[in-house]
Amino acid sequence: MWMLFLWLILLICLNISYGIQMICPYEIHEQSKQVIIRCENVKFADNEPLKYQEPSRAFQDYQKALEIVNTTIPVLKFTNNTFTAFANFTVLNVSHAGLERIEPDAFFDMRKIEILYLTYNNISSVDSSYFDSLEVLKNLDLSNNLITNIDQNAFSKVKLLTTLNLSSNSLKLLGSFSSYGLYSVKVMDLSSNGLSSIDLGHINESLEVLTLIHNQINTVLGRGNSTSSSLSNLSLNANNIGHLQGDCFDNLDNLKHLDLSFNNLDSLPEDLFSSLNRIRYLNLSGNAIEELPSGIFDSSFYLQSLDVSKNALSDLKCDAGTWHNLYELNIQHNLISHIDVQGIVENATHLKYVALDGNNFDCDYLLEVIKLFSDNDVTVRKGNSIDAVNVDGNICYEKVKISSNYKSSILVTVLTILVVVIVILVVPWIVKYYKYIKAKRTRGEQLELL
Ligand SMILES: *[C@@H]1O[C@H](CO)[C@@H](O)[C@H](O)[C@H]1NC(C)=O
Ligand SMILES: *[C@@H]1O[C@H](CO)[C@@H](O)[C@H](O)[C@H]1NC(C)=O
Ligand SMILES: *[C@@H]1O[C@H](CO)[C@@H](O)[C@H](O)[C@H]1NC(C)=O
Ligand SMILES: *[C@@H]1O[C@H](CO)[C@@H](O)[C@H](O)[C@H]1NC(C)=O
Ligand SMILES: *[C@@H]1O[C@H](CO)[C@@H](O)[C@H](O)[C@H]1NC(C)=O
Ligand SMILES: *[C@@H]1O[C@H](CO)[C@@H](O)[C@H](O)[C@H]1NC(C)=O
Ligand SMILES: *[C@@H]1O[C@H](CO)[C@@H](O)[C@H](O)[C@H]1NC(C)=O
Ligand SMILES: *[C@@H]1O[C@H](CO)[C@@H](O)[C@H](O)[C@H]1NC(C)=O
Ligand SMILES: *[C@@H]1O[C@H](CO)[C@@H](O)[C@H](O)[C@H]1NC(C)=O
Ligand SMILES: *[C@@H]1O[C@H](CO)[C@@H](O)[C@H](O)[C@H]1NC(C)=O
Ligand SMILES: *[C@@H]1O[C@H](CO)[C@@H](O)[C@H](O)[C@H]1NC(C)=O
Repeated sequence: MWMLFLWLILLICLNISYGIQMICPYEIHEQSKQVIIRCENVKFADNEPLKYQEPSRAFQDYQKALEIVNTTIPVLKFTNNTFTAFANFTVLNVSHAGLERIEPDAFFDMRKIEILYLTYNNISSVDSSYFDSLEVLKNLDLSNNLITNIDQNAFSKVKLLTTLNLSSNSLKLLGSFSSYGLYSVKVMDLSSNGLSSIDLGHINESLEVLTLIHNQINTVLGRGNSTSSSLSNLSLNANNIGHLQGDCFDNLDNLKHLDLSFNNLDSLPEDLFSSLNRIRYLNLSGNAIEELPSGIFDSSFYLQSLDVSKNALSDLKCDAGTWHNLYELNIQHNLISHIDVQGIVENATHLKYVALDGNNFDCDYLLEVIKLFSDNDVTVRKGNSIDAVNVDGNICYEKVKISSNYKSSILVTVLTILVVVIVILVVPWIVKYYKYIKAKRTRGEQLELL
């Protein structure tokens, strides 16, 4: 009986001490060469150090990551000793934690963090002090928060920051990168915010990848006369761009990848791409473009992939003469009925794939087009229109064929109908008129007799 009682007390004590002194388990990820310490249901308290189970061996060259799981932390603050065991960790993940605010020096004990995930939290503002102690931070993920504001100089102490993810927040305005202290950032993701304009003159020279998918951007301002930039990928798809100035992509001479798909463009200035002489990938799909101005690709010597599908093009009379390196061409879902295959294959000598389903081709003509392409080693991709009249799934229409016999019988029918109409309408009228004249004359004769 006494023994049992003692056992119970011992068990309770162990439980309590375990509750306070957390020993977090580890996981080894061989492929990504990571040791992940996963601390669940943490109760943060001053001077209560967080501990972890020492891995079986040293894992010297492995990245050490701390992940706080299923823990609500409205305010992240410096709790002396809590993180001292993690002083050499380079990855911290505090996601889904309801985090709203970060106090200055919150990361004081973990100043070696290079990658910080703060996704799926409730942060509404990035204050200037938040990341001040993280001088070696390279990758910051703030996606899926409620951010509407970023303070001036918020990142000015984070001098090595190269990747900043702000996607799925509520930013409406974006100032210049240098005002936020974003000097060395190379990759910036601003997708799914509420931005209505973007000034390419505001981005710092170091930026290489800018992603602005799913905002409400209707205005794109160019870099004007500012210095050239390193920008190589610009994604502006799924916005509201209806018009672009001819000079808006000037001074982006390193741009290789431009995605303007799913906007409201109905025309393009002739000189829009004139300074993009390194462009390799251009996506204009899902707009309302009626015409590609001739000469628009004159500078696009390296263009490899052009997607103009889902527009209102009725003709493809752009200069194949400038498509020396084109590899893949997509003109699906337009109103095109004619295509100068000879001119294209003669000039676009690297062309390998063409997609052309959903246009206005006559079936016989389409057969010829496909044959001509394949004779020149260009594969016409199979279309999806298998339920309609098609060639290889590419929709087309069949001319109504009228035989000469059929033609003459139509002529006979038309003539017959014409004669019948004349007989029915005109003859009674003539008869009536004749009768009237006759009656008039008879009346005249009668008068004369009187
Ligand atoms: C961060 O932690 C959450 C659990 O809270 C996990 O679902 C997520 O995959 C982790 N993210 C990364 C990049 O490790
Ligand atoms: C998460 O925490 C809550 C309360 O803090 C607890 O009820 C729940 O069981 C925990 N879930 C997991 C998966 O640990
Ligand atoms: C943190 O704790 C150590 C001793 O545990 C103490 O020397 C130090 O002053 C404390 N720092 C702060 C900022 O409270
Ligand atoms: C961190 O690394 C240094 C040297 O690499 C070592 O002296 C120190 O004990 C480590 N700290 C912890 C908490 O592991
Ligand atoms: C975070 O914000 C969302 C939406 O505003 C809210 O529903 C949720 O309760 C908040 N979470 C916490 C932990 O405060
Ligand atoms: C930013 O975060 C979103 C959502 O978590 C993710 O889909 C996207 O790939 C991230 N962007 C970058 C550049 O890592
Ligand atoms: C880019 O960053 C440098 C500092 O490294 C700064 O002097 C310059 O003004 C910034 N450029 C722009 C366009 O913000
Ligand atoms: C750019 O410079 C040229 C002269 O070099 C000048 O005429 C033009 O107005 C400038 N444009 C802008 C937007 O500053
Ligand atoms: C950047 O563009 C290149 C060329 O189109 C592409 O291969 C690459 O995947 C893109 N990178 C990103 C991060 O979007
Ligand atoms: C162009 O963009 C559309 C929509 O964003 C996408 O479905 C398509 O795959 C892209 N084309 C290429 C060649 O990547
Ligand atoms: C093909 O190139 C030649 C000269 O190399 C040019 O005369 C011709 O117009 C080009 N064809 C097309 C369709 O652009």
